[in-house]
Amino acid sequence: MRAVPIPELMLEPVFDPLGSGRDAIGTSTAAGKGLNVRHGTILSLEDINVSFDGFKALNDLCLYIGVGELRCIIGPNGAGKTTLMDVITGKTRPDSGSAYFGETLDLTRMSEVEIAQAGIGRKFQKPTVFEALSVFENLELAQKTDKSVWASLRARLSGEQKDRIDEVLQTIRLDSSRQRPAGLLSHGQKQFLEIGMLLVQDPQLLLLDEPVAGMTDAETEFTAELFKSLARQHSLMVVEHDMGFVGSIADHVSVLHQGRVLAEGSLAQVQNDERVIEVYLGR
Ligand SMILES: Nc1ncnc2c1ncn2[C@@H]1O[C@H](COP(=O)(O)OP(=O)(O)OP(=O)(O)O)[C@@H](O)[C@H]1O
Ligand SMILES: [Mg+2]
Repeated sequence: MRAVPIPELMLEPVFDPLGSGRDAIGTSTAAGKGLNVRHGTILSLEDINVSFDGFKALNDLCLYIGVGELRCIIGPNGAGKTTLMDVITGKTRPDSGSAYFGETLDLTRMSEVEIAQAGIGRKFQKPTVFEALSVFENLELAQKTDKSVWASLRARLSGEQKDRIDEVLQTIRLDSSRQRPAGLLSHGQKQFLEIGMLLVQDPQLLLLDEPVAGMTDAETEFTAELFKSLARQHSLMVVEHDMGFVGSIADHVSVLHQGRVLAEGSLAQVQNDERVIEVYLGR
């Protein structure tokens, strides 16, 4: 049987887990719909180990993300942040340890496609939009499960799907650019489009690796607003080196160092932690 998360390691929920988001059987919230998230935890990683040629990239890592939480992961280069996302999305299999999405979905036994379909969306640092297609077409394509480009574009959208795309276009502030080829967007706008491409799939957990790298100050500010507006309806895990950005969005910060969680708390708490100052922030 899987161990119940250790209480000290659990996070304070961002909102009352017994609040209005729960359904009659008490297992569902907006950010965890269809998932069994009875204990208010959307992601539980326990004792995860990943080695690359004897080098321990993740070392007995334990991490829990609450439903609707916006968690930032910080840590020096090589700490294991991207590897952590690789484990969650099924790109890398851990040598040992458990990884659960909700109470019952064992991520270590699911393929990358199954994990994405179960509701975990990931955004890589480099935008990967289809440059020749319009903003709208990119969103349309992302929404389809059949990834064949032409089959998807030919198939007619249901009213509901189109409404969702319109809603996402507003959210990512690209409504007025809906017919523009994605290749003509700025770097920041491409990043927003890619976030939109995740949102049209209605993921419950969003993983974002260095989302504001290369953005202007204004774009970074908008990203902060956007992420704060997505939290609660979604759970977010954001890896970022930009401390100003982290400070502006994070409920909770986990500091990774040498493949394990060194400290957790508010940004101010971890910045004042002696161990963190020693290994990372004070350098
Ligand atoms: N496929 C791989 N093969 C060998 N070593 C790897 C592989 N992937 C990652 N590593 C190593 O594992 C360690 C953790 O890498 P990871 O990319 O997870 O760090 P990170 O915290 O994301 O760093 P950064 O802040 O630079 O992005 C590094 O030492 C890296 O060189
Ligand atoms: Mg990385």
